[in-house]
Amino acid sequence: MKRIGVLTSGGDAPGMNACIRAIVKAAAAYGIEVMGIYEGYKGLMEGKMNVLTCNYVDDIIELSGTILKSARSKLFRTEEGLKLAKEQADKNGIEGLIVIGGDGSFRGACDISRYGLPVIGIPGTIDNDIAGTDYSIGADTAVNIVTETLSRIHDTARSLIMDSPRVFLVEVMGRACGYIAMTASIVGGADYCLVPEIPYDIDEMCSHLKKKFDNGKMYSVVVVAEGATNVNDLKKQVDAALNIDARTCVLGHLQRGGSPTAFDRMIASQMALKAVELLVEGKTNQMVGVVAGKAVSCDISVGINDKNKISAEMVRLNNILIG
Ligand code: F6P
Repeated sequence: MKRIGVLTSGGDAPGMNACIRAIVKAAAAYGIEVMGIYEGYKGLMEGKMNVLTCNYVDDIIELSGTILKSARSKLFRTEEGLKLAKEQADKNGIEGLIVIGGDGSFRGACDISRYGLPVIGIPGTIDNDIAGTDYSIGADTAVNIVTETLSRIHDTARSLIMDSPRVFLVEVMGRACGYIAMTASIVGGADYCLVPEIPYDIDEMCSHLKKKFDNGKMYSVVVVAEGATNVNDLKKQVDAALNIDARTCVLGHLQRGGSPTAFDRMIASQMALKAVELLVEGKTNQMVGVVAGKAVSCDISVGINDKNKISAEMVRLNNILIG
């Protein structure tokens, strides 16, 4: 194998650059050149790529986002698009492809593998919703950003005393997975957490908050994953139930920026090396992950079809700590 390609696809995540860097360095250790493909599958179809040298990627470890940029493409989902992509891969001597992204990106990798291009997926999404790995690249950085924000909200919440208790409703990312919400809620000391995977009852939440107010606490911070409910609808319900004027805060894309944490840089590097080695071994249609601290691999269908679940231990911990 002389040359492989790497692309980032779907929502960008902090740590993707650390991963690209490690892929280039790991490949170099095996005497393999890496083509950086720009703008995801769109760029692959358009032949937007160039060789990434170790020198070029040396300094990108702390940069957020992705130097290769990311994109979503409808054309790539058609046979015509896949053929175009394979033609470009052949034309540029790409013998294997590493795709950093989420489940949709992995699906694209599987599709192009049908045309004879070996593919390996690396989970990169702040949502941490991909099965087959304990963590996906970017999730730890996102959790740290939310934790820092909760701390800032606590600063003002505990300082300004009003006639009635104050409630802060903080919406965080996570369409189908409450990982960011629940982890940040536990480590950021929230008073309640709503996630899409666990049924909840707003009245029950409000009586929980009310109990805290009756015991003298003058504010509450509720973390809500975007997939659980709309924060504005939630505000209406909370305002009515507690007769207050709750404050809302939507963190949005703030959570996708910022220099990656040490942990994200480490797992990005571990997974990069594993992905390169899988291609060297002649493997295809695998995804890599980090489980119990070790780089592992499994069939890429796991990352496409299954979802990471919040562990029962985490739910229990959350339930005890919000009390
Ligand atoms: O990458 C995952 C994610 O950040 C989700 O948490 C969020 O719902 C979505 O992407 C936002 O996507 P967009 O950037 O298209 O608004």
